[in-house]
Amino acid sequence: MINRLKSLSPQFKKILKVSSRLAGRLGYRIYLVGGVTRDLLLGRRVLDLDIVVEGDAIKFTQKLAECIQGDFSKHHAFGTATVYFDGHKIDFATARTEKYPHWGALPKVKPSSLAQDLKRRDFTINAMAISLNRPDYGKLIDLYNGSGDLRKRLIRVLHAKSFLEDPTRILRAIRFEQRFGFRMEPCTFSLLKKALKLNMLGQVNPHRLRDELILILKEAKPYRYIKRIRELEGFSFVRKEISFSKRKLRFFRRAQASLSRYARNFKKHRKLEAWLIYLGGLVVDLPLGRVEKFLHDFGFKKGERIIISSIRRNLSKIKKLDKRVRPHVVYRILTLYSFESILFFHAYHSRGKLRKNIEYFLNTLVNIRLKTRGKDLKKLDFGPLTIYSKILTRLLYAKIDKGLKSKKEELAEAGRIYKRLS
Ligand code: CTP
Repeated sequence: MINRLKSLSPQFKKILKVSSRLAGRLGYRIYLVGGVTRDLLLGRRVLDLDIVVEGDAIKFTQKLAECIQGDFSKHHAFGTATVYFDGHKIDFATARTEKYPHWGALPKVKPSSLAQDLKRRDFTINAMAISLNRPDYGKLIDLYNGSGDLRKRLIRVLHAKSFLEDPTRILRAIRFEQRFGFRMEPCTFSLLKKALKLNMLGQVNPHRLRDELILILKEAKPYRYIKRIRELEGFSFVRKEISFSKRKLRFFRRAQASLSRYARNFKKHRKLEAWLIYLGGLVVDLPLGRVEKFLHDFGFKKGERIIISSIRRNLSKIKKLDKRVRPHVVYRILTLYSFESILFFHAYHSRGKLRKNIEYFLNTLVNIRLKTRGKDLKKLDFGPLTIYSKILTRLLYAKIDKGLKSKKEELAEAGRIYKRLS
């Protein structure tokens, strides 16, 4: 197992060594747990670490942050803390047991041992740990044969009430099944179907459902996940009236294709939240008022709500581009939208002039910039200052329509625009 730890980055390895020595000094025991252990066994890249502490995780993390001169944040209510070091993040949690006051509720937690902490977890593949303590540093602790299930490529719950106590695990099971190309072990699958029949997802707080839904939509190829949810349940847990036609499924596939074709074009711009395009696809056939209510009830952030509402609101307005128009009109209309909305429209309209115009925008227009600046207009004495922005906007449209290349051509055109305006 020590070999598996070798695949971690040098920074992580260093922090683990320091943590191990510190735990020894404090009389604590610490373990890598959950998804990290699973991913190390699968040989996947690990970006963040999760460590369980048999002892006070907050005190431990505070001391560790001092040793490595890293930043540190803590959450007393949960007994958890995080260390940030050299762009790396490590979460520490006090080993705990969980008791569910009622099914679907958030659990009450109490400090306990590693064994109890593993017992409360979702699936065998996520219930393994790696000791970071001397003398068994690097040893795998696998109380539920998670490594056997990894080899057999199975998702298996630890006990029969797992999906009832925490129904978000239904969505997690689908997520891991699809991400790793695993199967649900037959007994687990029948427990999952039973929980669905009891409408357990309907009893979960919408904010928790939202978080799970976002995680699914953020996976590399959400089409497969969406298809699987559709097969098993449909999306009534999100909204009763969400229908899931084949057409919608095709939208998800096309959105995936649009994203892989264009996402790299936006590297220079703010980070593209691709998952919003898929979320738009889920709710686009609801009336605008219902979409807004859904976004509000599920507690989506303001920026996210604005993008989804704008997609829904402009679904027909965008059809203005479904005909031959001058290039600057394509530019003028599409620059009003977020890239998420533009890619949504691209995926939603599978053919026709609208799609062609969007492609033209994404391939060409989006990168067009003027060489001329306000200070160039000032040098030419194009006053007053207040008309500069008008001149520059018109100049950009002219550049787009006429294909102006050099700054000289731009300045000549700016002169003509100035004359017309004054
Ligand atoms: N966990 C759980 N039940 C949940 C959520 C989480 O038992 N409803 C446990 C699992 O052991 C999981 C760990 O908490 O491995 C960490 O949760 P999370 O970070 O959500 O899962 P990862 O397995 O790390 O998943 P991912 O690879 O998507 O980050």
